[in-house]
Amino acid sequence: MPFVAVHHPEKCHRCGVCSEIVDCPGSDDLICIGCGACVLTCPHQALELVEEPRQRKVTIEVNGDMAVVPERISVKEALKESGYPVATSPQEPGLFAPCEVGGCWSCALEIDGVVRLACRTIVRNGMRIRTELPQDYVPRRIMMNFSGHPAGGVGTPWQARSNHSSYLEVVCFAAGCNFRCPQCQNWLITYRGRGEALTPKQAAQRLSLVREQLKLNRMTISGGESTLNRAWLTQFVAELKRLNPDPDARCHVDTNGSLLTHDYIDELAEAGMTDIGIDLKALETDTFMRITGLKDKDLAEKYKETAWEAVRYLIHNYSEKVFAGVGIPYNRSFISISEISLMGQRLLSIDPSIQVTVLNYRPEFRSNIAMPRDSEMVALRDMLQQLGLRTVLAQTTTGNIGP
Ligand code: FES
Repeated sequence: MPFVAVHHPEKCHRCGVCSEIVDCPGSDDLICIGCGACVLTCPHQALELVEEPRQRKVTIEVNGDMAVVPERISVKEALKESGYPVATSPQEPGLFAPCEVGGCWSCALEIDGVVRLACRTIVRNGMRIRTELPQDYVPRRIMMNFSGHPAGGVGTPWQARSNHSSYLEVVCFAAGCNFRCPQCQNWLITYRGRGEALTPKQAAQRLSLVREQLKLNRMTISGGESTLNRAWLTQFVAELKRLNPDPDARCHVDTNGSLLTHDYIDELAEAGMTDIGIDLKALETDTFMRITGLKDKDLAEKYKETAWEAVRYLIHNYSEKVFAGVGIPYNRSFISISEISLMGQRLLSIDPSIQVTVLNYRPEFRSNIAMPRDSEMVALRDMLQQLGLRTVLAQTTTGNIGP
């Protein structure tokens, strides 16, 4: 059933996010196609998707086959209506459209001879859609905020944190995420932001230039979720390595780990990734769903276990080549201390020397949770160290406190 976004003025704070940040596919025609981008992005939940039947139909051609679908929906929804498979990872066949806001460009297709995004394009009568991209297509992704970063991430080794002045690494941020965390820290970036659709080469050139200007060795991609567009990320890492061949250069990928299958990790390591930070979110699936905002239990379980397996695989296969750090979330509104302890025990069984950062999940985006006290964070660090983990950091309001 098609949808339309409905505005609830009594909840609206007139913050302007839904008009300034969202890439609304219907804005030119002044129509709503129910893509849901504004609903995902509104921090005050003043927008809601409701079902709206479409009386009229349009005929489209998908890879040479004809299909009749409702009018005024996105190409993504039209493909679903026509029975085209939907993927939950870039490794699966079918349409992979995880962010739904035009950020990741994973859903790029050839539409009437031009590469466009399935989640941002309105279906039209007579439209010709080819799911295979042209041979010479170069992937793109919305990227922004190329700058120095003072704090680093969970994939920044503790040793690298000493002796740095104002900035620890240079960083760029990728729009789009497959999670819907109510406490998302980077939500203006996640839900598309004001970036540009860059090729891997363009993004690597910009980040390398910032590295040169700030004279730093560490280069990081964060987000949003950096791994959504696999072809883009792999080419970006390879290009970054090509532009920075010196042995001091480090390429750091910051991720939720949910898509990092063995072959994806192999590909990134081969391309030149040297450091990775994986934010594990939870041990229990219910906790994982509460933290990530995902509603589909099977999908949440799959994403959670893929991330845990990614940590195990990296430690057991790439300990010489890639530095891997892990993030564990903490806020008593989302996760219990006993679950944090169980996460610590599972990490201990993988490798007692793995670097673990306990992250203070705080009130951002839609959550009104209380900020964890610094003393709570330090107590969690101590608890995990007492389990036998050797390198535990606590994120606090004054920065990371080390082992
Ligand atoms: S799903 Fe369309 S750009 Fe991410």
